[in-house]
Amino acid sequence: MDPVANPYTPNAGAQPLAVRGRDVQMQTFDLLLRRMSVGRTEQSMIITGLRGVGKTVLLGKFRSKAQELNWVVVEREVSKHDDEHFRRQMVSAIRTSLFEMSPKARWSDRVLRAAAVLKSFSISVDPAGTLTGGMDVDAAEGFADQQDLQADLSDLLVAVGEAAQDTGRGLVLLFDEVQFLSTKQLEALISALHKTVQRGLPVTMVGAGLPQIAELAGDAKSYSERLFKFPHIGNLEDGDARAALVEPANAEGAGYSNDALDLALEVTSGYPYFIQELGYAVWGVAAGPTITRDDVELAVPLYEAKLDESFFRVRLDRATEMERIYLRAMAELGPEAQKAQDVAAVIGRKSTQMGPTRAQLINMGLLYTPEHGYAAFTVPHFDKFMLRAIPDLIMPPERSKKTRAKD
Ligand SMILES: Nc1ncnc2c1ncn2[C@@H]1O[C@H](COP(=O)(O)OP(=O)(O)OP(=O)(O)O)[C@@H](O)[C@H]1O
Ligand SMILES: [Mg+2]
Repeated sequence: MDPVANPYTPNAGAQPLAVRGRDVQMQTFDLLLRRMSVGRTEQSMIITGLRGVGKTVLLGKFRSKAQELNWVVVEREVSKHDDEHFRRQMVSAIRTSLFEMSPKARWSDRVLRAAAVLKSFSISVDPAGTLTGGMDVDAAEGFADQQDLQADLSDLLVAVGEAAQDTGRGLVLLFDEVQFLSTKQLEALISALHKTVQRGLPVTMVGAGLPQIAELAGDAKSYSERLFKFPHIGNLEDGDARAALVEPANAEGAGYSNDALDLALEVTSGYPYFIQELGYAVWGVAAGPTITRDDVELAVPLYEAKLDESFFRVRLDRATEMERIYLRAMAELGPEAQKAQDVAAVIGRKSTQMGPTRAQLINMGLLYTPEHGYAAFTVPHFDKFMLRAIPDLIMPPERSKKTRAKD
């Protein structure tokens, strides 16, 4: 069918024509903002899920919803960086939010004060004042300038919350890829939000990230459990997965036969990104207007080749030889979470010997630990890909007597 009219969106963060299966999260978000608007408290949320399940798309829907309710929305993608960089990112996010809150010419005392606190917060990372350009205020000495991320961020978010309240609006920070925040950064954010919640201020943060959100300890853990829900999103249920394929086709005057849909669901397991890639490939081979099972069969090799080349291969290319050996051994055991010792056993090693490799794969975001002692792929169908990419198990090189003696 006409490639120009192809209605599927196999791109990271691309809003699909039909966003399916996310009604519960949308309702939770709506309730959060509505309750906070009237000064009530409500748990915020950090959406977790594997690669390609639609976390970024969902944050995009949250943005539209928040704008509809006249909230100030600031979106940022977090990256793995030091505290200085994190501070800069917060400065940029809060600066944007102050300008969004009300036009500068009409800034009230509260907004001006928040700008002054922001200036204090930024001084250590930006003495020249480039990041806070255009605000024309002096730093609020004694606030947000202790060089303690947690205390400084609390001062900042409280000042911004008061400014938001004063302008009759709320502020929601949407942070994507939160698994890249260090424990210290996440703790600082959590404890700052704890302060704003205590004071009933309309500021909140909604995050999204891989299911390995930093392990928190002590107070931060108990705050985080009270302040946040951690809803998990995954593959779509049968009806939603079918609709995610059918609705875009219908919008272009095409449709699917039932057995074509059955096969498409089997191939994609209902994962949103895979649905988009398969839908896209099928569109390219089908004569239409009804897409048949034969069309899907014809498209599957193209779909797999596309996934292998882009989605999967880039991840494997970043791995060292030892990491590949580990990933391949894991794939041998199947798609589920695997015990460290079982994976090590496949390649004739003890789990302690493979510990550093496993830790590095977790650090790279290829694996995560759903529970203690287990690791799973962060990318759906990665096990199948590994079997395609490396058909035979690879064994680690023989170790010398000396290294063996050390174990
Ligand atoms: N609810 C949905 N229904 C159908 N398709 C969806 C849905 N959500 C997302 N998609 C599609 O799935 C793909 C992945 O979406 P998105 O980039 O939001 O995933 P992600 O979870 O943020 O992935 P990553 O962890 O790699 O950042 C996109 O092609 C998008 O169009
Ligand atoms: Mg994303």
